[in-house]
Amino acid sequence: MEAALRRELGTSVLRPAGHSGGGCISHGESFHTDHGKVYVKCNAKAEARRMFDGEMASLTTILQTQTVKVPKPIKVIDLPEGGALFVMEHLDMRSLNRHAEKLGIQLADLHLHNQKLGEKLKKDANAIGKSEDQMDIHFVEEFGFNSVTCCGYLPQVNDWQQDWVNFFTRQRIQPQMDLIEKNSGDREARELWAQLQLKIPSLFGELKIVPALLHGDLWGGNVAEDDSGPVIFDPASFYGHSEYELAIAGMFGGFSGSFYSAYHSKIPKAAGFDKRLKLYQLFHYMNHWNHFGGGYRGSSINIMKNLVK
Ligand SMILES: Nc1ncnc2c1ncn2[C@@H]1O[C@H](COP(=O)(O)OP(=O)(O)O)[C@@H](O)[C@H]1O
Ligand SMILES: [Mg+2]
Repeated sequence: MEAALRRELGTSVLRPAGHSGGGCISHGESFHTDHGKVYVKCNAKAEARRMFDGEMASLTTILQTQTVKVPKPIKVIDLPEGGALFVMEHLDMRSLNRHAEKLGIQLADLHLHNQKLGEKLKKDANAIGKSEDQMDIHFVEEFGFNSVTCCGYLPQVNDWQQDWVNFFTRQRIQPQMDLIEKNSGDREARELWAQLQLKIPSLFGELKIVPALLHGDLWGGNVAEDDSGPVIFDPASFYGHSEYELAIAGMFGGFSGSFYSAYHSKIPKAAGFDKRLKLYQLFHYMNHWNHFGGGYRGSSINIMKNLVK
């Protein structure tokens, strides 16, 4: 690993910087290099490259919005013995506390960024003698992403779709159902899903959804703060419904009331919010069921039972 890092980063200094550990999925460690301090995630799985490419694409896109701080991505490196490394800027992070409210504002800004680009595009189209726009990030009209991103280590289907409900049903829940079917052939889950699919459009009413750039895996373990303010990391981005982002945030704690009130001061709750939040949590419970086993079956089944009532 160290030889690969030295070569690929072009650094002669490579000294452990006393921060080593891991998240739920990968092992991580910080190093001093010729170019400053970096944080390296290491994963031996065959799918590591795809997972890290998705994380790199997610961080790059979030960075371009200039709304919320993320570690700057540097490089994905294949390991000769299999697996891959992901190198990014090291940040001195601690638990989110003082900056929770600011995170609420900045997350809403991230979610509104694409909509604002759309509004600007319309305005510019009407303006006479408009100037060429130099922005790297363009208005996105559909739901999806130009890279596969992994929530945990399972790949998400990010093929572009015009319709959000279709995207969420076909490309989020259905692949999880297919895995459950393959792993356990759970009959109750299959039957509930058949009923729930018919019900989903009614949970959306007349809601108009503008694609929003999402972090995609915003649980309490993927947010923090440094001296400058809030930081989010370990994203699995795609353009989707902004409400989707708050689903996993609500599942494992870590977000205070000040975070939510700041967020909703910029993006108010629309009618039917609470039920859709449950629907979006269903994805995460199923994803956990497929990652960590049957301990998450009960929650998945209960959500479906409640939503089909
Ligand atoms: N850029 C970084 N700089 C310093 N520490 C980091 C950085 N990214 C992650 N970490 C540390 O590693 C932990 C796990 O990171 P994460 O990216 O969530 O890994 P995983 O993909 O395994 O969940 C974080 O909680 C944090 O303590
Ligand atoms: Mg993580």
